[in-house]
Amino acid sequence: MSMDRFESLALKMAFGLMVVFFVALVGLAVLKGIDVPTCFTDFPPFKEGKVIQKGEKEYEVHLLARMWAFQPNRIEIPVGSKVTIYTTSIDVQHGFEIERKVVNLMTIPGAVNKMEVVFNKPGTYRIVCNEYCGMGHPSMYGEIIVK
Ligand code: CUA
Repeated sequence: MSMDRFESLALKMAFGLMVVFFVALVGLAVLKGIDVPTCFTDFPPFKEGKVIQKGEKEYEVHLLARMWAFQPNRIEIPVGSKVTIYTTSIDVQHGFEIERKVVNLMTIPGAVNKMEVVFNKPGTYRIVCNEYCGMGHPSMYGEIIVK
């Protein structure tokens, strides 16, 4: 029983394409510095939201979500800042999305999510909760002001 010549060629081509796509995906992620959200199970969830300055243009944000507000809900940073965001929730599951940025995290009670983001353009970036969390959900938002 021998495999048809074209069948074998099609299989080889399919495998080759998979390799090409994989290399392109990894290459682009490294080249563009794309960070994927990470869930920390060993990072103790915090009870207070705050902004910690780590360097001249380096910040760490502990973002606490609750019904129905973000803490802190107004963050001011200079343009060009690199921000490491840790999110958690004190009550139910909320969403954490920064408009015009590729940041879309969940805030989960008892767990911490992390993501890094760089703000290279000045402006006001709205933070919205994109996970239905009860009556006050539509009014749950905040802002990041980049100067
Ligand atoms: Cu919090 Cu919707």
